[in-house]
Amino acid sequence: MPRGQIVAGCLAPHPPHLVYAENPEQNEPRSEGGWEQLRWGYERLRESLSKIDHDVLVILSPHWQTYVGTHFLGLDNFKGKSVDPVFPNLFRYTYDLDIDVELSQAIAKEAMEEYNLPCKMMENPDFRVDYGTIVTSHLVNPVFDKPLVVISSNRSRHYYSVEVMQEMMISLGKATKSAIEKSGKKAVILASNSLSHRHFTTESDIPEDMSKEHITSHAMHLWDMRMIDHMVNGRAKDILNEMPEFTEQSIAESDGGGFSWLLSALDEPEYPAILHGYGTIIGTGNAIVEWPAYKHGGVADE
Ligand SMILES: [Fe+2]
Repeated sequence: MPRGQIVAGCLAPHPPHLVYAENPEQNEPRSEGGWEQLRWGYERLRESLSKIDHDVLVILSPHWQTYVGTHFLGLDNFKGKSVDPVFPNLFRYTYDLDIDVELSQAIAKEAMEEYNLPCKMMENPDFRVDYGTIVTSHLVNPVFDKPLVVISSNRSRHYYSVEVMQEMMISLGKATKSAIEKSGKKAVILASNSLSHRHFTTESDIPEDMSKEHITSHAMHLWDMRMIDHMVNGRAKDILNEMPEFTEQSIAESDGGGFSWLLSALDEPEYPAILHGYGTIIGTGNAIVEWPAYKHGGVADE
């Protein structure tokens, strides 16, 4: 069997506003559009990924929060209706997700046996999948023709600190990479998180009124631009080193561990990432970024 590989890794944030703005049939509420800068960014990401052969999408979402270990969706299919708890007016989405259980189990096994990370498979057929997973899946692959591996966010940041969270997520990233290589599959891995995450506390009368949309503060803008500068200049190591300050000061969604996991699974890339888009949603900073790993030693020749 040829060695598997991570062919690309992406920062793929999940604000439900982006699905709402596109009016897909799965989502009940209707909109007049909005957040086009980010939606065009996702169009560019989809176009780019369409040219990269891959079998599976692997997602880590900060909204599936587990306090004892890391969990993985462990059944072939999950169906249901997802209502965003904060924005039920924008997101009431009927989902139908196919899971690559074999690869999910392989990553969990690798993480447990090689890195001593407690892991568990979610095998309750009525489990309600979190909206972060659903929104990122929809925006990256709206036709849902690839199976998913869905990984929970172990809240070690809340129980301990950003440093402990990051150490565990770096291990989980290495386990993810190694299990994918052993699987023979080509995977795109997705960290489903925003950057700065200080948001407005009220919504405008028309949610998609773009005259009301901007970053919440200059400090948040500076942090987002600093992180983007690191990404597009191949400085993953600097991002990991600055993660504690970034996460604390910009209330970033990197607290869920996805960003650290992604950079670790990509081997702390020193090559430039592609910035497909940046924009704000209710004041939070969101970047759509791709690391084209297949061009940089991610491809196995055997
Ligand atoms: Fe979120």
